Amino acid sequence: MAEIVLGVGGGIAAYKVADLLRRLTESGHGVTVVPTRSALRFVGEPTWAALSGRPVRTDVFEDVHEVPHVRIGRHADLVVVAPATADLMAKAAAGLADDLLTSTLLTARGPVVFVPAMHTEMWEHPATVANVETLRRRGALVVEPAVGRLTGADTGKGRLPEPADIFAYVSDVLTRGAEADAGPDLAGRHVVVSAGGTREHLDPVRFLGNRSSGRQGYALARAAAARGARVTLVAANVALPDPAGVDLVRVGSAAQLYDAMVEAAAGADAVVMAAAVADFRPAAYADTKIKKTADGSSPVIELERTTDILAYLATHRPDPKQVVVGFAAETGDASGSVLDHGRAKLASKGCDLLVVNEVGADRGFESEDNAAVVLGADGSSVTVESGPKSALAHVVWDLVRARL
Ligand code: CTP
Repeated sequence: MAEIVLGVGGGIAAYKVADLLRRLTESGHGVTVVPTRSALRFVGEPTWAALSGRPVRTDVFEDVHEVPHVRIGRHADLVVVAPATADLMAKAAAGLADDLLTSTLLTARGPVVFVPAMHTEMWEHPATVANVETLRRRGALVVEPAVGRLTGADTGKGRLPEPADIFAYVSDVLTRGAEADAGPDLAGRHVVVSAGGTREHLDPVRFLGNRSSGRQGYALARAAAARGARVTLVAANVALPDPAGVDLVRVGSAAQLYDAMVEAAAGADAVVMAAAVADFRPAAYADTKIKKTADGSSPVIELERTTDILAYLATHRPDPKQVVVGFAAETGDASGSVLDHGRAKLASKGCDLLVVNEVGADRGFESEDNAAVVLGADGSSVTVESGPKSALAHVVWDLVRARL
């Protein structure tokens, strides 16, 4: 379990950070909350003290004999600043140290995660853009704000991601431990991940779909963002909360997924097809709901093939150095084992890596865990024992990075 410093900035989103704090302490982490003075105008000291079970200070002149800014910073495995206001990031970028939080940021030795929240105008202001760039260049992780309702009636980019999402992001950074200390190893890279399952509509109310929840794709996107990559996540019908720090593109059908992937893949360093894509779609779409007929007959639905997006991407790479990864959900059968089918699929699709899952009634799709064998076009094979989907995600990125 980790020692975490939770720096709270002076923004209305501080109330959401109380929920993040609860999630962190409930999962066993020790959390020292360091609010700024203005943060306490939004959420008071008793809330932070009660939820963390620790005293709360804002000033370096309290308990001076303990030299708190040095002690707190040095002992932290991770510092999370949420909400990171424009003012706080400007101070951090300039190296100012006029309170306990900004001083702690200068003594911190572990990874530092800023989770910004502010109005769109402030986020897009050249001063903020430059400060974010400076912080990232120095190795800090600055999460992209979510898009949505802001403080007033206005909406736009600048919203604090949901607490569950920040928690997942922070957990990813912590999972990587020593590696995260080595710096974000995918910084400067652009990766594209597809997630979820496509839906092929028969009529305005019916579709052919599949059981994919999108969890593995979302875990891949989160893991890449935690490692500093710019991430485009193309999500087909996923009901999970938006991951922090990724550009999300929503699609419905296989044809829309194809368009979105081809567009996003141009200029990307790596592409991972984790989505479950329909292989067939109804040949005709009925503009009105298909009705039961009076004679009791059943309609016959003709299907046509969709484009194999993975095979297309692997054979039409904008840059030969782009790494292309596929997934294969397989069951063994009389013609071969799960791995035999995986090897054959890797070759036929032409990708660099294929993550082979054995699926069945209770494996793979809706579960939180995943086990897989990752096959390489170079003949390599890496077995990942059953564990959280985020663990498999990090193995995939390790293998991708080795090929970049
Ligand atoms: N895939 C794709 N486009 C399709 C179908 C699949 O990009 N139209 C991708 C999936 O995202 C996955 C990989 O191909 O990364 C494997 O998909 P799978 O459905 O297991 O393989 P198929 O090619 O459909 O082979 P089969 O169903 O015959 O096993």
